[in-house]
Amino acid sequence: MLNKQYQQKDKILPPEVIFHVHRITKVYQMGEVEVRALRLVDLDLYEGEFVVLLGPSGSGKSTLLNILGGLDIPSSGEVFFRERNLTNASDAQLTRFRRDCVGFIFQFYNLIPSLTARENVALVTEIARRPMSPQQALELVGLSNRLDHFPAQMSGGEQQRVAIARAIAKNPEVLLCDEPTGALDFQTGKLVLEALAQVNRELGTTTAIITHNAGIAAMADRVIMMRSGEITHIQHNETKLTPAELEW
Ligand SMILES: Nc1ncnc2c1ncn2[C@@H]1O[C@H](COP(=O)(O)OP(=O)(O)OP(=O)(O)O)[C@@H](O)[C@H]1O
Ligand SMILES: [Mg+2]
Repeated sequence: MLNKQYQQKDKILPPEVIFHVHRITKVYQMGEVEVRALRLVDLDLYEGEFVVLLGPSGSGKSTLLNILGGLDIPSSGEVFFRERNLTNASDAQLTRFRRDCVGFIFQFYNLIPSLTARENVALVTEIARRPMSPQQALELVGLSNRLDHFPAQMSGGEQQRVAIARAIAKNPEVLLCDEPTGALDFQTGKLVLEALAQVNRELGTTTAIITHNAGIAAMADRVIMMRSGEITHIQHNETKLTPAELEW
């Protein structure tokens, strides 16, 4: 009952705020030891922005991103996606939120080997509410000449761009990327970042990228720096570099 008292059901937020994170913590109980992955994190993300999350290993970046995407829930505090309070959503509501509103991209592409690029993307568009065509999504990431290739017939960078096409084909409002260039060399990584920047520019998809590479921060509108489960600093970039201009 006491908990309920503190739980806001709805919240009126400025229309440009897409995520409102209010004093969240995440504690993992490992036997006798408590791991505090997030310690009272506050954050707003704005519609259409491109943010980069930077911080040492174990600083809580993935935990925060997974909570934003409804893959995990905080131990305390609240997360709003627009006016919706994700922290008191049912499992079914969270599933719908993930399916309709969020595109995920991880370090490993998780493509189905026996399906072509087009078919891998089609798996998602078939169940989406307002999808683009697989071909359109693949064109947007520069793969119009790889539609009928199987994953084994593509480079790592091309496979990651298929994964991006798959994530954007359902027209999600947000794209959450956990080390999308982690397995790629820097030239290939730049092509993947170029695809993400293009999606952000052309579709206005709010995009958050976790990276270990501080060089990537120069292409972001804002850089969120984390350490030991806290946001230590948020940097606003007056001018952004294109991926081709990045140094890493
Ligand atoms: N499922 C889990 N069970 C227990 N502890 C966890 C779990 N997931 C994460 N942690 C711990 O929470 C802390 C934050 O982890 P998280 O994965 O968010 O860090 P990260 O910043 O993404 O690190 P990396 O850059 O290495 O991916 C770490 O100390 C980690 O060991
Ligand atoms: Mg991580």
